[in-house]
Amino acid sequence: MTVHFIGAGPGAPDLLTLRGRDLIAACPVCLYAGSLVPEAVLGHCPEGARVVNTADMDLHAIIAEMRRAHDAGEDVARLHSGDLSVWSAMGEQLRRLRAEGIPVSVTPGVPSFAAAAATLGAELTLPGLAQSVVLTRTQGRASTMPAGETLQNFAATGATLALHLSVQNLDRVVKELTPSYGADCPVAIVWRASWPDERIIRGTLADIADRVDSGITRTALILVGRALEGEGFDESCLYATDYDRRYRPQSAQSPWAGWSHGDD
Ligand SMILES: C[S@@+](CC[C@H](N)C(=O)[O-])C[C@H]1O[C@@H](n2cnc3c(N)ncnc32)[C@H](O)[C@@H]1O
Repeated sequence: MTVHFIGAGPGAPDLLTLRGRDLIAACPVCLYAGSLVPEAVLGHCPEGARVVNTADMDLHAIIAEMRRAHDAGEDVARLHSGDLSVWSAMGEQLRRLRAEGIPVSVTPGVPSFAAAAATLGAELTLPGLAQSVVLTRTQGRASTMPAGETLQNFAATGATLALHLSVQNLDRVVKELTPSYGADCPVAIVWRASWPDERIIRGTLADIADRVDSGITRTALILVGRALEGEGFDESCLYATDYDRRYRPQSAQSPWAGWSHGDD
């Protein structure tokens, strides 16, 4: 028996990995974080599965469910939204399960920042504009931020920021980012990326707060940075005609000449 942690993706039921889908289909028990995992994803559960929404359960009760399945020899599909490596609360569950000797596996999912970028049709790392993406959040009721992880510190790098769990703090976000990025810096808010009713609000740090309406709550990602302009960037060397590289040696003197794809 194993507890399979599965990244359930941003919402669309077909934005699951095949491995995730097959595991869900094979598990007689499914525990899902119902505040963010849409019901449609549960369509992959087998008929008769025990399907439990953990949104109103505490850690103790969740682990008790897993222990019960373990004692009954039943595999568990544990679903969290997006990918499990960020803000999934998987860490605390893993710690307890490992302490109890209950086997676990982890299957990644499509993270919401990637789904939001896809909705925008945007690359977040454009040469000359940004080569890093910072996945971060602002402080919430349930979690404090470590001292160095301030918006000002991240903003000083000029990287593209993907702000999770923060749309309710938009005014503060704007205030803290404007000195580094400038008021004309593009901002895009993607609400419910990949859901049937997804929405995009575009603006700048100067006007984004006026553009959002009260319908934009919770399941929204704020992307900030010059890369969102989608213009004014350099082309990468990778596909430049005269760039000497392993897959396209430019001359007989190239260190890559004679290398074949089977060499490594
Ligand atoms: C608890 S975190 C979970 C993050 C998730 N593990 C991931 O990989 O994206 C929830 C936050 O993720 C973002 N989020 C999750 N799904 C989203 C979606 N479909 N569209 C936009 N933002 C989303 C929102 O910022 C939301 O407040």
